[in-house]
Amino acid sequence: MSRLIFVLNGPNLNLLGKREPHIYGSETLADVERDCRALAKELALEIRFHQSNREYELIDWIHEAREVAGGIVINPGAFTHTSVAILDALNAFDPPIMEVHISNVHKREAFRHHSFVSGVASGVIVGCGTLGYQLALRRLAQLLNSAAK
Ligand code: DQA
Repeated sequence: MSRLIFVLNGPNLNLLGKREPHIYGSETLADVERDCRALAKELALEIRFHQSNREYELIDWIHEAREVAGGIVINPGAFTHTSVAILDALNAFDPPIMEVHISNVHKREAFRHHSFVSGVASGVIVGCGTLGYQLALRRLAQLLNSAAK
């Protein structure tokens, strides 16, 4: 199984650290990427880290991941609550998927309570801030390590 993990981020996450810091904190996406890369090294994982505001780009990266990756960490942003197209793309990806939300979506507006992605994810990490990405990587490493035994 490949130890390459795609870490995918959806719309508006490029503004992390600048938009609504009372909800999303003050860390930027560059900080998240740096921390993911440091942890990936420790876990003997390789990562490809992407963000897009465009649904099709996220779908194209999921298709690319089908060919090469052993897992996906995805924070689809608002597409979580709207995108059947991202769900379909993830359904075509066999290895484990971890869904991450920085905020506790269940404490927020009702429209954020439903996720199209959760039904296809191995695990969901919600409301743990940007640490959620690291928890997700740790879980994928654990799944990959036990699959390799
Ligand atoms: C989010 C939660 C979504 O509801 C929201 O649209 C986002 C970020 C989170 O990380 O908490 O853009 O996915």
